Amino acid sequence: MAEIVREGNLFHLRNDRISYILCVMPEHALAHLYFGRRLSRLDPDQVLRHAGSGDTYNFTLQECGLDRLPQEYPSFGLGDQRVGALKIENADGSTAADLRFVSAVIEQGKPALAGLPATFGDNCQTLRISMKDQQTNVQVELLYTVFEDCDAIARSAKITNGSLADIRLTGAMSLSVDLPDDQWDFITLNGAWARERGVYRRPLMPGHQGVSTQCGASSLQQSPFLALARRETSEAQGEAIGAALIYSGNFLAQASVYQNGSTRVMLGINPDDFSWLLQPGDSFQTPEAALVYSAQGLGGMSRAFHTLWEKHLLPRKWLNAHRPVLLNSWEAAYFDFDEEKLVSIAKSAAEAGVELFVMDDGWFGHRDDDTTSLGDWTVDKRKLPGGLGRLSDRVRALGLQFGIWMEPEMVSPDSDLYRAHPDWAIHIPGRAGITARHQLTLDLSRKDVQDFVYQAVSTTLKESRAAYLKWDMNRNFSNIGSTALPVDQQKELPHRYILGLYSVMERLVKAFPNVLFEGCASGGGRFDPGMLYYVPQFWCSDNTDALCRCRIQYGTSMFLPPSTMGSHVSAVPNHQTGRITPLQTRFAVALGGCFGYELDPRKLTEEERSALQGQVKYAQDSESTRLHGGMYRLLSPFEGNDTAWITVSKDQKEAVFTYVRGQAQANAAPALVKLQGLSPEKRYTVQETGQTFGGDELLFSGILCKVDGGNAASLLYTLKAVEA
Ligand code: DGJ
Repeated sequence: MAEIVREGNLFHLRNDRISYILCVMPEHALAHLYFGRRLSRLDPDQVLRHAGSGDTYNFTLQECGLDRLPQEYPSFGLGDQRVGALKIENADGSTAADLRFVSAVIEQGKPALAGLPATFGDNCQTLRISMKDQQTNVQVELLYTVFEDCDAIARSAKITNGSLADIRLTGAMSLSVDLPDDQWDFITLNGAWARERGVYRRPLMPGHQGVSTQCGASSLQQSPFLALARRETSEAQGEAIGAALIYSGNFLAQASVYQNGSTRVMLGINPDDFSWLLQPGDSFQTPEAALVYSAQGLGGMSRAFHTLWEKHLLPRKWLNAHRPVLLNSWEAAYFDFDEEKLVSIAKSAAEAGVELFVMDDGWFGHRDDDTTSLGDWTVDKRKLPGGLGRLSDRVRALGLQFGIWMEPEMVSPDSDLYRAHPDWAIHIPGRAGITARHQLTLDLSRKDVQDFVYQAVSTTLKESRAAYLKWDMNRNFSNIGSTALPVDQQKELPHRYILGLYSVMERLVKAFPNVLFEGCASGGGRFDPGMLYYVPQFWCSDNTDALCRCRIQYGTSMFLPPSTMGSHVSAVPNHQTGRITPLQTRFAVALGGCFGYELDPRKLTEEERSALQGQVKYAQDSESTRLHGGMYRLLSPFEGNDTAWITVSKDQKEAVFTYVRGQAQANAAPALVKLQGLSPEKRYTVQETGQTFGGDELLFSGILCKVDGGNAASLLYTLKAVEA
């Protein structure tokens, strides 16, 4: 059960496994006391003596005492020399904010956040704390939610200008927490296009360490996530704390180590180049952040995130709904197609049992390459003379659903849209436009642009009778300026853009409740919990090479569940790496997410085509275990030649185990991989070999992974519990 208990000045948020404790200090500052395993009670004195480093401590403002106080929502300028969560330019030009506790309310459930994606649910309790600077009348409302079914605390802040003058926010974090020590490793997910979310782990050091973006998105290079793991913490054992931001724009995720080894963790909108005008009475709502605790290693931390998103964030409609096995035309045809070719590919896909055919880029305007036509969402009659309707009808007549690609946030300079509305692109007047992939970004902070995007997508969905939309986004911000915003509000553009995007997504998913939206941003460039509130799955990476995908999917699973990862089998030699890997390995790896194909099935051999039928059937039959079971990482491709993971059904009766050996080894012993997540009391039969093992044997001794010779060899085992 999740509950929030108030004992005097102490607030204790807890479920059966975790506790989060804060307290109101004598001068009404808000102190952070504890986050970790569930406690029955906590005496604040020990924690505060430790922080104050002495027998006596003085956390008064007068004595600059805030510098040592572990705090919940620290501000700048009143003696705390550490980085603050809140920075305000007051009407008098000063930047200090003296936030003092005013009141607290405990509520059942979880309030929504206006205009922003956020967790929801009934089996949780929320603490609403009001703070106020008595001198400026700036008010801050902090929300904390504790959940019954996952070991997470959700946090956000709302800042209200209660004064009679304008103020400016120049930093408003979603979450700040002061941990008492720094004996942690620091983990982030970093990468690049086609190399998203590599796992980087290093000891936490004095000073700041973190990740941030300023490109307008959560990005290919960073993820709005960080983790702290004890030095000895492994995948299966030890303490880990994870933090993630439910946001898709510029962010900061940072851990800072200060004197005496205290660690301040912060997540929120990147304060660099951020400023927000608050007129009297205005409020600013920060995005939500989630903090999870695990005593079961990094695997436990990841599963806590997976459960949080699956039960409290992802679109309800798709939670347990079947995700159709799809074939996407991109790597099959790129821009080079017409109606006959697409229908012929779709026919071949249908013969393999594929359920959804997706037409990717190139169907509109006069787009034969990426230099033109974004924004002109009218069908290219040269390629599709019968329009979207006829193509869709023909595809659907084959027994497939029809899906379509759009990149609605963009405009090509060579487009009718740009010629009609040059002001709709993000730009700085007078400066030459900077294109990337020959395109400009539409200014989604503008209501007229939001309406245009909504209309363009709605019309396309209606005309094509599509059951699926791949929403792509392929460039970063540059020349950041909006002609719709006054000079002194230009720094609001990146956040206003994301609010505009969310508002369009909200309208669309409501208007088209049966359409499956898949996010994409040059692959996984905006694959974050914010987007996942609207789109239940995201194209994990443009890199479809099976060995690269082992790393990308392994890293992604640190905080995002398999059910969100778009993952396809592609042709060889692979289009990104030139590598040739066995079809079986490409299949086994693609099963790690929402399964599909990214190839022209007509070009496969007879033997490969018949293998596809078995693959599709397997993907369908194993879907619930693969996508909604618990995921356990077993061997890390970041630490060795092998990758292994297993997904185990909630009732522990079924599991799908994947093992991939990267490079072939001469005279090497086959790996003996200890499984996780199974019941030690049950016996399991490996369907592919017919062998039966005790669950305890698989867990504590391991399963022998003997693979054929050659690079990228793999095993895919389906484990079923033997009925008693
Ligand atoms: C980038 C995406 O990641 C690809 O899958 C594909 O849709 C292209 N854009 C199309 O331009």
